[in-house]
Amino acid sequence: MYKNKNLAIEIENLNFTYPDGTEALKDVSLKVCEGESLAIIGPNGAGKSTLLLNLNGLLKGNGSVKIFGTEINSSNLRDVRKKVGLVFQNPDDQLFCSTVYEDVAFGPMNLRLKEVEIERRVNDALLKVEMNGYKNHNAFHLSYGQKKRVAIATILSMNPDIIAIDEPSSNLDHNSQLSLARILISLLKTKLFVTHDIPYAALLCDRVIIIDSGKIVADGLLFDILSIPELLERHRLGFPPGFSIEKLKEDKNKLFH
Ligand SMILES: Nc1ncnc2c1ncn2[C@@H]1O[C@H](COP(=O)(O)OP(=O)(O)O)[C@@H](O)[C@H]1O
Ligand SMILES: [Mg+2]
Repeated sequence: MYKNKNLAIEIENLNFTYPDGTEALKDVSLKVCEGESLAIIGPNGAGKSTLLLNLNGLLKGNGSVKIFGTEINSSNLRDVRKKVGLVFQNPDDQLFCSTVYEDVAFGPMNLRLKEVEIERRVNDALLKVEMNGYKNHNAFHLSYGQKKRVAIATILSMNPDIIAIDEPSSNLDHNSQLSLARILISLLKTKLFVTHDIPYAALLCDRVIIIDSGKIVADGLLFDILSIPELLERHRLGFPPGFSIEKLKEDKNKLFH
């Protein structure tokens, strides 16, 4: 299935245990092709965030994680972090400068790029997330949805090949969710979205994996997996009231009209 395509991510037999003994990932293997959009769903505490943190070396488990064919190790972390942009679950963990501009410029400045190139990247990134009018604001005073977008801009300014976003839709109202979905769909990258919001996953992705208790328990096309309600129930994943696959397909079509 993957033979003739470039693999963006290849994880083999990854195990991760936190210092307190919590086994958060158990023998996880996963391949993601370049350009693919993958939803990672699962109940609270399943290991979704831990998996993302292993993709750019912020956490290092036992097993192998390859990014475009290169295994992550302590000597190539800088390169890996240029390739994999990770947006944390909580935007307050990502934004710490006194202005939005400085937050988004932080990564490119560390690459020691020229000032004009930094400015170009910051402008491009903020335009993409529709936050270019907020350069001089302090992120602390923005709404949650705006913070989330600025957090996304902080990784876009690094021009990564892979973006991994933890819980893009959480704490957003319906309209903010849809406008963020439009932005995320328009980014031409390899994309991973962690969420427990199945309809949102379906807006963004064709493929989904389900993680439960640290293990990948399903991997397939989202609409195929959604048609097995027992599978979702077994892993404590439910649909919101009034949800139907037909309505979801309608919403998906409506997004760009
Ligand atoms: N820093 C930590 N120290 C110890 N255990 C943790 C830590 N972070 C997460 N865990 C535990 O690891 C497991 C997986 O957590 P996490 O990856 O955050 O799950 P999810 O993102 O799917 O909700 C859970 O049991 C959680 O309580
Ligand atoms: Mg999480």
